[in-house]
Amino acid sequence: MKFGSFDDSSKEYIIDTPMTPLPWINYLGSRNFFSLISNTAGGYTFYKDAKLLRLTRYRYNNCPGDIGGRYYYICDGETVFAPGWQPIKTPLDRYRCRHGLGYTIFEAEKNGLAASLCCFVPRDDNCEINHLTLQNCTNQPKTVDVFSLREFCLYNTVDDATNFQRNFSIGEVEVENGIIYHKTEFRERRNHYAFFGVNRPPEGFDTARDAFCGPYNGFDCPEVVKNRKSTDSIAHGWAPIGSHHHKLILAPGEKTSLVYLLGFIQLPDEEKWERPGVINKSPAKAMLRRFDTAEKAEAALREIREYWNSLLSKFTISSPDRKLDRMVNIWNQYQCMVTFHMSRSASYYESGVGRGMGFRDSCQDLLGLVHLIPKLARKRILDIAATQFEDGSAYHQYQPLTKQGNLDVGSGFNDDPLWLIACTSAYLRETGDFSILDEQVPYDNDEAMATSLLEHLDRSCRYTVTHKGPHGLPLIGRADWNDCLNLNCFSTQPGESFQTCSNFESGKAESVFIAGMFVKYGRELADIHTALDNVQAASEILAEVQIMEDAVQQSGWDGQWFLRAYDAFEQPVGSHVCGEGKIFIEPQGICVMAGIGLQDGRARRALNSVRQYLDTPYGIVLLQPAYTKYYANLGEISSYPPGYKENAGIFCHNNPWISCANAVVGNGNEAFRIYKKTCPAYIEDISEIHRTEPYVYSQMIAGKDAPTFGEAKNSWLTGTAAWAFVSISQYILGILPELGGLSIRPCLPDELTGYHIRRVFRGAEYDIEVENHAGGNHITSFTVNGTPQADCLIPYDESIRHYDVTVVLG
Ligand code: BGC
Repeated sequence: MKFGSFDDSSKEYIIDTPMTPLPWINYLGSRNFFSLISNTAGGYTFYKDAKLLRLTRYRYNNCPGDIGGRYYYICDGETVFAPGWQPIKTPLDRYRCRHGLGYTIFEAEKNGLAASLCCFVPRDDNCEINHLTLQNCTNQPKTVDVFSLREFCLYNTVDDATNFQRNFSIGEVEVENGIIYHKTEFRERRNHYAFFGVNRPPEGFDTARDAFCGPYNGFDCPEVVKNRKSTDSIAHGWAPIGSHHHKLILAPGEKTSLVYLLGFIQLPDEEKWERPGVINKSPAKAMLRRFDTAEKAEAALREIREYWNSLLSKFTISSPDRKLDRMVNIWNQYQCMVTFHMSRSASYYESGVGRGMGFRDSCQDLLGLVHLIPKLARKRILDIAATQFEDGSAYHQYQPLTKQGNLDVGSGFNDDPLWLIACTSAYLRETGDFSILDEQVPYDNDEAMATSLLEHLDRSCRYTVTHKGPHGLPLIGRADWNDCLNLNCFSTQPGESFQTCSNFESGKAESVFIAGMFVKYGRELADIHTALDNVQAASEILAEVQIMEDAVQQSGWDGQWFLRAYDAFEQPVGSHVCGEGKIFIEPQGICVMAGIGLQDGRARRALNSVRQYLDTPYGIVLLQPAYTKYYANLGEISSYPPGYKENAGIFCHNNPWISCANAVVGNGNEAFRIYKKTCPAYIEDISEIHRTEPYVYSQMIAGKDAPTFGEAKNSWLTGTAAWAFVSISQYILGILPELGGLSIRPCLPDELTGYHIRRVFRGAEYDIEVENHAGGNHITSFTVNGTPQADCLIPYDESIRHYDVTVVLG
């Protein structure tokens, strides 16, 4: 069952009922100012950091789930409705929510009054615009009252939600010409304020929530709206809000609009005040003037559209498969950009207070978008590397505002360092910009300890080499990619965090997954050294890679698949000898991607086992059989009920690894079959089961052991976005950036008879035509600008700005 549909020409997903199974959201903002917005206009806004600079309030775990947002009450006679349906829930004659790239538009109609609300964050200003248009579609005049509502957050959202003894007394506002300025704490230590304005002077306003709602009402039936009259309240403490009232008279057919703006202003200390006690409003007024007409708002929206169209034009496909095209061209790349900005901080499942920028997460996110924003990717790599410890290990997280590592979610995840090699290698392959390796980068943000980025990568590599266990495999530390496989924690205290509790440090628990990573990314590091003519360094790394590969072959193979790990007692994890958790997905993906077992058939056998034991109609589960009880020696993984999250859920993030691995062994049909299983556009029809947004990936789908098999959770902020894009663009469609140039090595399913891709690579344009009539994936002809070529690497040549590439597969 569907609750909407894709409109590929406008790059929108159009939702046609407000009653989606869960809130279906979008993100506004592309620089520093961001908003989350649901299909019923819920969500909140923040500047740079969802924890420390939250501008509007949102209550997670609320009932109903999604209350609080940008609300407009439209009163037409006795009827009150909202363009996003919430919070009044008056049944609408017509409702559409159009989530587009960087904007969301609601279209509603009730009793012949049409309302459209267009929400976006302009490219160059720190504000959210809400452009409300009303049209009287009847042949009678209408008098309409419109009330707006935003509830301010007192900036630090944790404090805002907990420290009531202080916060109920500190709220302060100013109002001038109907513009509401939220200046809590501005008097002392803050140098910023938020404001909510509108381009037409209102009849009245409210800034105190109690006055607006009445002490016993919610947002669904505020007193002020009931009375059709604002109270001009001024908040003194309690809960500051912003609300305006407009009375509009609309002749038959007449259309009018209001442009609302929620803005954020930061001022140097000496410019904070206009006069004692009165804040400096001039930058806010200037911002309001930039958007004070419908035309200006429309122009700003056009700019957003142009920005996204131009950004996404760097990789476009045209193929016989519409679903493939819409994911590759639009939604997958868009989600990659959102994960770049948010990491794992702010979604409808990430509260914006817990997790900042993950070291591993942010490194992986780059894999999917380095072609879109190479300059920002460069900066991000340097920021992440600057949090690395001197010995090569890493904090698991850093704060977006300060860029300092923090121990809130611990450290000692021994895969972390290797992801730095992964993303730097991806950056170099995309851009050819080796100068990044010479950048002087601190350790733990201490400039005194700075070394070149290349040295950081070498230390990442050395960290693995010098931290091995009894089988010569890498020690897992607190965990590896699978945060919940905690082989050294042995936690038995209720509520204790698996990420930060004291570790037993067995010195024994080893990870086959990290071993596979080391083989893959160790080789990539050796390639980098080779390109730099560091022959000695390259050969030393390759020797270590060989030792690791031998260790995997020797001690990491279980007979039909790769083992997952050894626990603190040197017992295998993910082996046929285990009672539960006999086979895991991760090592099968990463080891095959690393090329382990390609010669001796183990790679194929491992992938066959994945299909035999882990495959389900909704995707590949993480492990089987699910753990049915808690094992202290395995940790959090066994704390989840069977079928959820890491305990045999369909963890979407590592499904693409199996796609990639199948492409590595030349099985295009299987690679694509797996790609489609979790790919949003292909499962749109089962939205009533899947429940999360059908245009983006979710982190997890409940596995076959779960009572809610097929139900997804944690949409949007997941490494799945990046890996899905890598799997489809590089492994299946085969557009693979390499240090020496761009390779075209498709591994297509029989059903895809060809495609045309336009790809911008290092500033040159590549028009790539691939024909796949006979299936089989052998390249029978490869021509570049009319000249046949024996190799599928097109060496980078600065003097050629356009390449016409034709590849025939047979
Ligand atoms: C984390 C990832 C981790 C994955 C598997 C996600 O919640 O963000 O870093 O790899 O879970 O445990």
